[in-house]
Amino acid sequence: MKKITIAIDGHSSCGKSTMAKDLAREIGYIYIDSGAMYRCCTLFCLQQGLISPDGTIDTAEFERRMPEIHVSFRLNPETGRPDTYLNNVCVEREIRTMEVSSFVSPVAALPFVRAAMTAQQQEMGREGGIVMDGRDIGTAVFPNAEMKVFVTASDEIRAQRRYDELIAKGEQAVFQQVLENLRERDRIDSTRAVAPLRQADDALVLDNSHLTIPEQKQWLLDRFIERTHPQTP
Ligand code: DC
Repeated sequence: MKKITIAIDGHSSCGKSTMAKDLAREIGYIYIDSGAMYRCCTLFCLQQGLISPDGTIDTAEFERRMPEIHVSFRLNPETGRPDTYLNNVCVEREIRTMEVSSFVSPVAALPFVRAAMTAQQQEMGREGGIVMDGRDIGTAVFPNAEMKVFVTASDEIRAQRRYDELIAKGEQAVFQQVLENLRERDRIDSTRAVAPLRQADDALVLDNSHLTIPEQKQWLLDRFIERTHPQTP
């Protein structure tokens, strides 16, 4: 059977990655976390001193050095999930810090960054059989994806999930700061000029504010089965 392309978009910290990863594993598809790719670009900038402490990005130098950024994903046999590598170094932990989170939206709004990442993402999904999550997957990266899902949840619930995740990893976190960071990221992601976050006209909407992870997983799997095994009348 032909493998389809599944695009999962939505706001920050609404659990897209968890559901996308679980679905991919369940149906034997490749999972790509496109946000991790923008996070790698941000980490690269921080490592190379291309972002000053006041948040100014040296865009001319960054654009010149863009070809030095190579992002890849490798399955971690212990977790059964892919880890993110920046230039062959595993950065799965480093890209999830509050520091990277606070600079990633301005970095992801730069047109040359989007052009480079979109091209890589389209190449990764050329053969189908992929679940990709992000902000513009169903609108800009794979506008012809056979299945599109737009996920959302209330700001407070999303901030609480993100806060719990940071604390569980032993990171310092203050709930109010996490909430503000998330709202600011949503604002930048939704209002940028290139490929802003928006619901594709043909996307299925999932508000998971009050769903458990197993419930979301089942919802997504049911939608996948509907798409790939349509009932004959
Ligand atoms: O999903 P995430 O929080 O890891 O994404 C990090 C940032 O990357 C987010 O603030 C917006 C940006 N992003 C994007 O612009 N386009 C995507 N397809 C994925 C993420």
